[in-house]
Amino acid sequence: MRAFRKRPMLGMVLVSLVATIVGIAISLAIDWFPTQASTAADDIDFLYDVLLVASVPIFVLVKAVVIYSVVLFRAEPGDLSDGAPIHGNTRLEVFWVTIPFILVSVISVYSWVVLNDIEAEQPNELVVNVTGQQFAWRFEYPEEGKVKSNQLVLAKDRPVYFRVRSDDVIHDFFVPEFRLKTDAVPGLTTKIRVTPNRLGTYPVVCAELCGLGHSTMRQDARVVSTQEFDEWLGKQREEESASAGGDQASAGKRVFTGEGCAACHSLADAGSASAIGPELDGLTATARRMGDRTGRSPEEIVRAAIKDPDAELTREFRSGVMPTDFDKRLSPGEIDSLVKYLLDVTGGGK
Ligand code: CUA
Repeated sequence: MRAFRKRPMLGMVLVSLVATIVGIAISLAIDWFPTQASTAADDIDFLYDVLLVASVPIFVLVKAVVIYSVVLFRAEPGDLSDGAPIHGNTRLEVFWVTIPFILVSVISVYSWVVLNDIEAEQPNELVVNVTGQQFAWRFEYPEEGKVKSNQLVLAKDRPVYFRVRSDDVIHDFFVPEFRLKTDAVPGLTTKIRVTPNRLGTYPVVCAELCGLGHSTMRQDARVVSTQEFDEWLGKQREEESASAGGDQASAGKRVFTGEGCAACHSLADAGSASAIGPELDGLTATARRMGDRTGRSPEEIVRAAIKDPDAELTREFRSGVMPTDFDKRLSPGEIDSLVKYLLDVTGGGK
């Protein structure tokens, strides 16, 4: 210790060296990342590790210089005089420009190589259109018979090409286990590729604060075997053609779960329990009550509330939360089915 007191610079260097080694050991020992479920995960995790290891010495250096200066160049009590003016130190300036420049350049090139590798086009890609809306994700498989789903189902080892859009505000499509993340920006289509390589169910989350229901904007990504995926596709197609073929109630339920209604409204029949918007299990009763006051039928009221939600708003709920574009987004037939379904399952229907 006495040697350090005589030569504080040597002390600082030795302490920093030890702190750096300990810091790197700790940052590598901690498992920062969730399960790896895509081919990109390994490369991305390694890149993060490289960044961590590079950050530790910089962090230690900055802290060491600060602490060293505070301890050694502390003003004496009562000393209110100004410090000596210092101007320019070419050697120091060359160092602190050159080293960060090299460091940042190397990291940029390395990151670019990894990104380029991950985003390379793959053979036999499965195209999935992802649409974000307040507050749900919708998935469509345009090259598999336009199958629509509110669950993301993927085949293990089959490369996927995501085309991500938004209906309203900026969302961010994120599957942590895939290490996949891209913004959903209104008016743009962002693209990202991933090859899931592990069976299982992983969360699809929204990683951009997008309004009242942001934290509930969570769905599932299910990675299944190729055979199971084909069976699922077949079943979806069947259900879609069945609901197109006449059964209005099941068509209405599909609209409810597939167009994001279930993300905000609770409805026992659809198994949804979200409380962002009005609960719908008492819908028929409420619509009748409103109808008694205004002389409209429950059906008219529900239809109006879907097309122009802000006009039918009750006191507890804020305007501007429910999307106002369902009138454009859904066909008249889909709206008919939805209205009928909602009234049917809540005890009305007339
Ligand atoms: Cu969508 Cu946050």
